[in-house]
Amino acid sequence: MILNNFRKKITPVILLLIIISAGAFSVERGYAAPAKKRAGGRFFYPAPKQRASNLFEKKNVKYPFTFIVYGDSREPAGDEKDALIAQIIRERPSFVLHMGDFVLYGEEHQWKIFDFFGGRIIDNGIPIYPVLGNHEYHTREKSYPSDPEEQLRLYFKRFKYVKNKRWYSFRYGNSLFLILDTNTDYSPESYQYKWLMKELKGKAPTFLFIALHHPPYTMEAYKVTRKSEKSLAEIFESYKEKGLLKVDIVFSGHTHNYERYKYNGINYVVSGGGGASQHSIARKPGDLYDKAGKNYHYCRITVSKTNATFEMIRLNENTGEWEIADGFTLAK
Ligand SMILES: [Fe+2]
Repeated sequence: MILNNFRKKITPVILLLIIISAGAFSVERGYAAPAKKRAGGRFFYPAPKQRASNLFEKKNVKYPFTFIVYGDSREPAGDEKDALIAQIIRERPSFVLHMGDFVLYGEEHQWKIFDFFGGRIIDNGIPIYPVLGNHEYHTREKSYPSDPEEQLRLYFKRFKYVKNKRWYSFRYGNSLFLILDTNTDYSPESYQYKWLMKELKGKAPTFLFIALHHPPYTMEAYKVTRKSEKSLAEIFESYKEKGLLKVDIVFSGHTHNYERYKYNGINYVVSGGGGASQHSIARKPGDLYDKAGKNYHYCRITVSKTNATFEMIRLNENTGEWEIADGFTLAK
């Protein structure tokens, strides 16, 4: 009797200890529940320790070279997305940077829709360097944050050349590209943050481009800027005091439209016009783009030895033509 009572009392304690231990290990691995923590006003998955996040350095580059930026291609906005993919392929860029949210859910049937549309870019020999969006981590049952292990498997299956890296860099001629995962931890003690700081103290390129899914600045009513991306912008903008490399353009997505800002010499481009239904944007001072309404679009960046020309190219839905609707040039 006494032994039974003791067992009844001790069993929940043992179970609790097991759960706590499992939690500690999952933080080490960076995946399973409860592997999330609050930082910068939101939940992150602790970022796993990634070694060799620098993918490659391509030295022999023919100038000028062109790369395309687009994002938020989830949901089958059929005609616009189909036209956009065909247009990107016609551009014959050296590569594409996709700002994330390829899919509505990180499930195979959704990725099949990506294969059908965006996959044609890859099939045409143009690599897509991906940024992880929040929807890549979603499932139909659970919105963010969900268990990312299976979702990441489906993502990396499409982009084998990023070698299972959630965040990574590459050097292409005179340009350095730093790709972040804003779904996992990049608070100051994290692996991702330390890696980013190391890159920002490294060998200076002529042009430095950063890509991340969640925008440091946006005026979309629902998707307000989060503290974590605000703090990143503060770091980029205080590069002189911190002795960091100067970032030329920060590309992001998440907001389904186009926005452009310039603060303390840093250009911020929000490019989420790849097919998802477009958000309305109340254009306010600070946004250097002022066209209301839908902006299905992509960005074309042409890099020479001394200049980088940025152009935003949108679909005119009345004429079906692609028109340059915004742009600027960086000269070194
Ligand atoms: Fe998103």
